[in-house]
Amino acid sequence: YTVGIVGAAFSGGQPRGGVEQGPARLVEFGLPSQLSSLGWNVDIDEKFPTYEHLRPPSDQDIGKLKNARYVSAVTKSVSDSVKSLVAKGHLALTLGGDHSLAMGTISGSAAVYPDVGVIWVDAHADINTPETTETGNLHGCPVSFLMGLPGARNIPSFEWLSPCLPTNRIVYIGLRDVDVPEKKILKDNNIKAFSMHEVDKYGIGKVVEMALDYLGRDKPVHLSFDVDALDPSVAPATGTPVRGGLTFREGHFICEAVYETGNLVAVDIMEVNPLLGDQAYVLQTIQIGCSLTRTALGETLL
Ligand code: ARG
Ligand code: MN
Ligand code: MN
Ligand code: MN
Repeated sequence: YTVGIVGAAFSGGQPRGGVEQGPARLVEFGLPSQLSSLGWNVDIDEKFPTYEHLRPPSDQDIGKLKNARYVSAVTKSVSDSVKSLVAKGHLALTLGGDHSLAMGTISGSAAVYPDVGVIWVDAHADINTPETTETGNLHGCPVSFLMGLPGARNIPSFEWLSPCLPTNRIVYIGLRDVDVPEKKILKDNNIKAFSMHEVDKYGIGKVVEMALDYLGRDKPVHLSFDVDALDPSVAPATGTPVRGGLTFREGHFICEAVYETGNLVAVDIMEVNPLLGDQAYVLQTIQIGCSLTRTALGETLL
């Protein structure tokens, strides 16, 4: 089996610099060789594109949206990369970078597998539309774009992205910082979501079981993991930390269960920002990015 690594050194979906250095730091820490040790054939272009060549000369706000042209160009490129990896039967592993990149990763896997089920692990729902976003940061919007929700269709500069994710093909785990309009979107569209409340109530084992049952055990799975799903005591070096998150084990349990389905087609590890916090915190976060990835790719405790 081959894993194709897409190093998505990109921070344009949010304002804090540094998240574009996430992929290089994960690779430096040894992720590719760790995956080889697990038996994977690793396909990686070590000199990641910086995406600078895709930065438009000017990028005026479109409505409230910031850097829309740049985000569009980069996510389109990531979409093409993920699509071609998945079409070859490779597992596509995208290292972020901010979570706007999921517009690229999920549109790429859905192009090959239209019935793909997404497990979105995050403190945030990232389902704002261009109308509901308060920040204008596109890392808070990828899910609405992928779904083509009202207000998130035919957005200027995103002509390439057509709706590819039905509202019943995603399950959230770990939510705890959802904007008021996002709560309405989740409710109105009957979107399956396990917040931290459900994690506390049922336990992570039951939550993941319900999530996989909902998506269908025989269906391809795309895991999109925002490290801010984890508690900030576990993964501190990230741009929008929120207290009350998943424990180290809960995060890894999700990855173990997803691997066990045998149907994983793509994994995103997002929002690792090596410029936030002191060195020990940064190292801790990079380490966990690597161990979550290894676990999703088959590393077991026994
Ligand atoms: N809901 C907020 C926003 O729309 C925060 C989103 C945080 N997203 C993330 N991928 N960390 O701006
Ligand atoms: Mn190959
Ligand atoms: Mn988040
Ligand atoms: Mn996110």
